[in-house]
Amino acid sequence: MRNAGADMIAYLRALIDAKRGSPDDDMLSALVLATDEGDRLSPDELISMAFLLLVAGHETTVNLIGNGALALLRHPEVRERLAADEALWPAAVEEFLRYDGPVTNATWRFTTEPVRVGSVVIPEGEFVTISLGAAGRDPRRYEAPDRLDITRPRTAGLAFGHGVHHCLGAPLARLEGHVVLSRLFARLPGLRLAVDAGELRWRGSLMMRGLEELPVFTA
Ligand code: HEM
Repeated sequence: MRNAGADMIAYLRALIDAKRGSPDDDMLSALVLATDEGDRLSPDELISMAFLLLVAGHETTVNLIGNGALALLRHPEVRERLAADEALWPAAVEEFLRYDGPVTNATWRFTTEPVRVGSVVIPEGEFVTISLGAAGRDPRRYEAPDRLDITRPRTAGLAFGHGVHHCLGAPLARLEGHVVLSRLFARLPGLRLAVDAGELRWRGSLMMRGLEELPVFTA
């Protein structure tokens, strides 16, 4: 991880220098040129912003698409409802985010005072992480939480986090999930799993919930 991180930083540093030299009509150039009352992002801030947007914007959505596709491949009845009524897609994307969302655990937080959770008291100054995956399956909030149900009453979920750090890209991610999954299943109505679901391999990540690969037959 350390080597990959260093390579990525070197790559972004060179890319940012190139954009500074000849800005283009793209987001990185806009960030390089952005000023707030004369204050610009420093080179380190630019690298960390580009890194965040790249990772937060890419891996998450890849896994929304992968996990959502898997959910549909395993639930033909839901697939049929969506084929019959395109208007159900936005609700379906919300349900994929709840049922098998791409971010299992939020990024780290630190307690500023002792916090009681059930029978445990977490002391002040401890590191904590919230399981967004468990929140999506909380039986006190969702009836039959393990059931994929695209018509369940819509409540604000935690898949995109909560509070000041709520996901910046949520509208884009919802749109990408809707467009990609609806087009995929419309174009390939014969799409089916090529292996037993039990044989699928999940990535070993504490933060991301996503498949190593999703083998399918297209017809
Ligand atoms: C299905 C796709 C996505 C999911 C499930 C997701 C989920 C999340 C979550 C849970 C957080 C909060 C993390 C925390 O509080 O610890 C977050 C933050 C963030 N996301 Fe997303 N995200 C997705 C797509 C995107 C996209 C497409 C972008 C950008 C184009 C993006 C950019 C960001 C950024 C910049 C933050 C940090 C916001 C801040 O700290 O103020 N995300 N995301």
